[in-house]
Amino acid sequence: MGRRHSHHASGAPGGGGSAAPPGNTALPQPAPIQSPTRDISPSAPALADRDVLVRIRGLRFSHGTRVIFDGVDLDVRRGAVTAVMGPSGTGKTTLLRLISGQLHPDAGSIEVDGEPVQALKRSDLFRLRRRMGMLFQSGALLTDLSVFDNVAYPLREHTGLSESMVRKLVLLKLEAVGLRGARDMMPSALSGGMARRVALARAIALDPMMILYDEPFTGQDPISMGVLVTLIRQLNDASRLTSILVSHDVRETASIADEIYVISNGRVVARGTPEEIAAERSEWVRQFMDGLPDGPVRFHHPAPPLAEDLLTKGSG
Ligand SMILES: Nc1ncnc2c1ncn2[C@@H]1O[C@H](COP(=O)(O)OP(=O)(O)OP(=O)(O)O)[C@@H](O)[C@H]1O
Ligand SMILES: [Mg+2]
Repeated sequence: MGRRHSHHASGAPGGGGSAAPPGNTALPQPAPIQSPTRDISPSAPALADRDVLVRIRGLRFSHGTRVIFDGVDLDVRRGAVTAVMGPSGTGKTTLLRLISGQLHPDAGSIEVDGEPVQALKRSDLFRLRRRMGMLFQSGALLTDLSVFDNVAYPLREHTGLSESMVRKLVLLKLEAVGLRGARDMMPSALSGGMARRVALARAIALDPMMILYDEPFTGQDPISMGVLVTLIRQLNDASRLTSILVSHDVRETASIADEIYVISNGRVVARGTPEEIAAERSEWVRQFMDGLPDGPVRFHHPAPPLAEDLLTKGSG
């Protein structure tokens, strides 16, 4: 760890079309809150096109009537670990599904390695998706296959490699996550942390250009969290990968991310290095980063006053 990429302190605000005019779109969702209007990224470098692996502009997306993204711009720099943070239910998993083309935006654009994800035909989308390794939130392994066969699965599915070649690659990937010795174990015999590392070995089996991590630390003890933190950074740097890390674990994420986006209520409310985010005073960011139960994001789902509710229901 600690091999953080340096950030250029150019004064330009985050590249390209910045956020849509804030505040004038009523969000048809509980507790509509005005987003902060300023772009909290004074030192975010303007990225040249070739430095950007994922470019999101003006992203809008709703699940039914619930607005999840209301004009999001986001750049993922090649070679970097970019974190997207936000409270539960803000749409972090949804964002990864949009980037991988499993969901379609209502408006805006998503480009991955220069390719417009939502305009690709199926075969091109599948080809692109094979270049993205995914560590899902549930991290599910195939329970009736051994560790070895779980990691071999994508290789057998998507390549015509010989079994002896598959074996070499699987052992290399397992070695990278420290579990070559566990290759014959079944998933039911693994600890949660080991299972996550096997899932990670499977995610890198096809040598992706990028890995999308969905809450990799959830449910881990401090030691295995530390192992995962180190592993994510090492894999990124050693294999010249690009990583998108979606998480609400503030400390772990801040320790490996090169850049953090904080999302709340459909908008990017802050963007910067971990140091910049730590120094950010906006109450939106503070509420989330400091884990305060109430603030701009309300603890209570909108409801009539409690007394009113208690009186109208079941009162005699
Ligand atoms: N298929 C769906 N249909 C309708 N609503 C959905 C669907 N999937 C997710 N949502 C809603 O979209 C919102 C964002 O969900 P998402 O899973 O992306 O959040 P998240 O930030 O990943 O949360 P968590 O941190 O708990 O994983 C939630 O309010 C969720 O209820
Ligand atoms: Mg999620």
